[in-house]
Amino acid sequence: MIGKFQLNTINQGDCIELLKNVPDNSIDLIFADPPYNLQLSGDLYRPNQTKVDGVDDVWDKFDSMADYDKFSNEWLKECYRVLKNSGSIWVIGTYHNIFRVGAIMQNIGFWLLNDIIWVKTNPMPNFKGTRFNNAHETLIWATKSKSSNYTFHYHSMKVMNDDLQMRSDWLIPICQGEERIKVNGQKAHSTQKPAELLFRIILSTSNPEDLVLDPFMGSGTTAAVAKRLGRNFIGFEKEEFYIKIAIERINKTSKLSKDLLDYKVEKRKPKVPFGNLIEKGFVKIGETLYSNNKKYAAIVQADASLSCYGENGSIHKISAYILKKENNNGWTFWYVIRNNELISIDQLRHKYEKDFILIKSNKIELRIKQT
Ligand SMILES: C[S@@+](CC[C@H](N)C(=O)[O-])C[C@H]1O[C@@H](n2cnc3c(N)ncnc32)[C@H](O)[C@@H]1O
Repeated sequence: MIGKFQLNTINQGDCIELLKNVPDNSIDLIFADPPYNLQLSGDLYRPNQTKVDGVDDVWDKFDSMADYDKFSNEWLKECYRVLKNSGSIWVIGTYHNIFRVGAIMQNIGFWLLNDIIWVKTNPMPNFKGTRFNNAHETLIWATKSKSSNYTFHYHSMKVMNDDLQMRSDWLIPICQGEERIKVNGQKAHSTQKPAELLFRIILSTSNPEDLVLDPFMGSGTTAAVAKRLGRNFIGFEKEEFYIKIAIERINKTSKLSKDLLDYKVEKRKPKVPFGNLIEKGFVKIGETLYSNNKKYAAIVQADASLSCYGENGSIHKISAYILKKENNNGWTFWYVIRNNELISIDQLRHKYEKDFILIKSNKIELRIKQT
C-alpha cells in the first residue's frame, strides 16, 4: 500500500483529489501527460473531405487559460509534495500548454534538468497547409531541488545510443499499428503515447522496484511499461472506459526477468585510496616509488603521503609537482620495484580490488581475502 492505494493499481477519479491521499516524499518517478488544452473549434477535414480524428475530448476542455493554469498549479503542487527528494518528474506537452506548465513548475520550486524534444518520425500532416507541420512534443524533466540526488543511468543511455551520449532530441514514431489499442476499429484513446517513449524515460530515471506515478493514466502506457521494467506503479484516471482498457493492457504485459534489468554498465569501480594499499601490505612504509623512467623517486611515509625533494603530499600532488602541472593522476605516474621490475601502483590497485572488493548490484562490499 502507498497511503490509501494498493500498489500497481489504477484508481478512478480526479487526480488532484486522489493525490491528496498519497503520502509526502513517497514517489520515485512521476510521468504526467496532462490535458493539452488544445482549444480546438469546429471539425478538421483532410483535403479528401474525411474528418481528422483529433483530440476533441471533454477532458481536454477548459473555460479559460486562467482555469488551465489553476488546474496545472494544483496537480503539480501535489506532485511536488509526493515526490521523493531523490525522485524526478517528467511532464509532456505541446506548444499549447508546455510553456505555461514549465513556468508553473518553476514557480512551485521544481528544478528543470532538461527539456527533451520528442521528434515524431511520422507526424500527422498540417492538413490546412497554413502552418509548419507540428512534428514534435516537448518533455520537461525536473527534480524537487537543485541539490536532488536523482537517478540517471547515464552510461546505459549512452550504450543505448551506440556509445554516444544520449541527446535531448528523441526520434520516436507516434503510436500506430499493432501497438495502437482499438475498440470496434476506432482508436481507444486519442493520445496514446508510444511505449518506446516511456521505456526510455523509466529505464533512464528510475530503478527496478521503484514506484512510478502517473496522474493522467489514459490507456495505461506508463503502467504497462513500468510493469515490464519491474517497477511498481500507481495511476489515476477520470474515465472508467480508459481504466478498463489500461487494465486489460497491463494484464497482457509480462515482466522482464530481474537479471535482464540489472544496470550492468552503470557499475563503477570503487575508489581505492592509496592508504589502503599500505594497510594491506601492497606497498611498504619507507619504500621508494619511481617514475616510469626512474628519473624521479619518492619515499612512502606512514600517513600514505610521499616525500620527494623536500615536498610532501599525496601520490597525485607530488606527481603534479614533478611535472609542473596543476593536477596529475598519481596512480599512473608511480611504480614500485618487484622482482627487479617496475610495476605500476595502478596494477597493485587492481590486484587489491580483485582480492578485497566485491561489487554487488551497485553496492560495494569489502570481503576478506580467501587464502
Ligand atoms: C493526454 S491523456 C494521457 C494519455 C496517456 N499518456 C496514454 O498514453 O494513454 C490525459 C488523460 O488524463 C485524463 N484526465 C484528464 N483530467 C484528469 C483529472 N483531473 N484527473 C484524472 N485524469 C484526468 C483524461 O481522461 C485522459 O485519459
